[in-house]
Amino acid sequence: MTTGTTAATTPNLGIDLGGLKMKNPVTVASGTFGYGAEYSQYFDIGRLGAVTTKSLSLKPRAGNKPPRLVETPAGMLNAIGLQNVGIETYLSEKLPFLRAKCATIIANIYGHSADEYVELARRIDSEGAGDAIEANLSCPNVHDARKAKGAVLVSQDPRCVEEYTRAIRAVTKLPLIVKLTPNVMDITEPALAAEAAGADALCLINTLLGLAIDAETRRPRLSNIVGGLSGPAIRPVAVKMVWDARRAVKIPIIGTGGICQADDAIEFLLAGATAVSVGSMNFRQPDAAIRVLEGIEDYLLRHEIENVSELVGAMKA
Ligand SMILES: Cc1cc2nc3c(=O)[nH]c(=O)nc-3n(C[C@H](O)[C@H](O)[C@H](O)COP(=O)(O)O)c2cc1C
Repeated sequence: MTTGTTAATTPNLGIDLGGLKMKNPVTVASGTFGYGAEYSQYFDIGRLGAVTTKSLSLKPRAGNKPPRLVETPAGMLNAIGLQNVGIETYLSEKLPFLRAKCATIIANIYGHSADEYVELARRIDSEGAGDAIEANLSCPNVHDARKAKGAVLVSQDPRCVEEYTRAIRAVTKLPLIVKLTPNVMDITEPALAAEAAGADALCLINTLLGLAIDAETRRPRLSNIVGGLSGPAIRPVAVKMVWDARRAVKIPIIGTGGICQADDAIEFLLAGATAVSVGSMNFRQPDAAIRVLEGIEDYLLRHEIENVSELVGAMKA
């Protein structure tokens, strides 16, 4: 509620994301922040609402061959291919650092089958290796068995979203966030499927599929040929998808896509996101997420808003 009189009151930034208590609504997008250590020289990562890890798989992955990144107008295309240290190394080498920094951890997981997601979720849960689980059902850069059969990303098929979410839900009581792809006609279909299967929250959006070709060599600029587009170029698409999903589901949403500064994050909140994650901007400005957080606090003070949650879905149409 707007008080109109208490401009100097410190606003309440805390949120509840489907059971995950966050001290503020700002996290970082999976794959753009490593496992936190890389960024802790720039700021205290424990100040973030949560640290979201790079997608973890059962075995370490080397990812795709270079070139895996290419700059595009107002964004970038990546085809990293889920390079990650694997769950064992995460548990032994990365987790202790995150815990020592008192970070709230969203452990992002990726599997090649529902069984692999289940195994990863079990490990995260039983080892206390995350405060929430984010299931990446939407990575565009891996060639798995499903795609080889001409299938699609898991989250392009609402039935698969339901099947995978239900399977993961059955093995963990941790807050479960399902991360969806924007490469669909209607985001409300996978969003509703995730909610029906027991997801506690959604993360929208992963990258948009894209292709960049070098005109001189006539070759694709990425070894994987296609990649995922991220950065400011995708922000209006992401904000619209959050707005669409917000009106379809009751569970909270993390808004992601091209957030560079506080105003961008506030756009997502106004569209209906409860939390936001800063992604590609971390590469350009390593302390971007903390600047976004400070900017949100300034905005609340300037507008004399007591609770950040008052902004959620508060767009004036
Ligand atoms: C280099 C790179 C690596 C990424 N790796 C992952 C990943 O491992 N798991 C995941 O769920 N999303 C991954 N993403 C997607 C981001 O988490 C985010 O959804 C997307 O980039 C949109 O946000 P942005 O425009 O702020 O970057 C990656 C994105 C980039 C740019």
